[in-house]
Amino acid sequence: MRPLEWDVRFSSGVASLDDDHREFLALQNSLLEARGHGRGHRVLHEVLEQLIAWAEIHQAREEAMFGETGYPGAARHRAEHERLLAAARSLRLRHALDLERLTRAVLGLFDYWWKRHILEHDLEFGRYLAAERHGAPV
Ligand SMILES: [Fe+2]
Ligand SMILES: [Fe+2]
Repeated sequence: MRPLEWDVRFSSGVASLDDDHREFLALQNSLLEARGHGRGHRVLHEVLEQLIAWAEIHQAREEAMFGETGYPGAARHRAEHERLLAAARSLRLRHALDLERLTRAVLGLFDYWWKRHILEHDLEFGRYLAAERHGAPV
């Protein structure tokens, strides 16, 4: 995906909403750019947090305007907001669960490395050096 640049065709005609939508594009571009530099995974958590925070504020802003203006499409639009926010929150949860699983796997490797390699193989090598008087460094 290429970075998106703001275009006059994107304008809703409401300055406050357009400003929010520009922020949305900037956030999307920050993830695209980070991924382009091979560090998308490093910023993913922060981008998701920012997206959810942005959506909570922005969607409430739009919904308040529906009320003020008697917008007839309000219910359908609000339902779409709920779906989008739920999708973002679900991805945040999935990311946290994936990271927890990965963290457990890394800790498992640490445990194996310590008990089955360092405490066995490395200490065995140490005993060999001591027994053979090969002058283990002190
Ligand atoms: Fe919007
Ligand atoms: Fe909206």
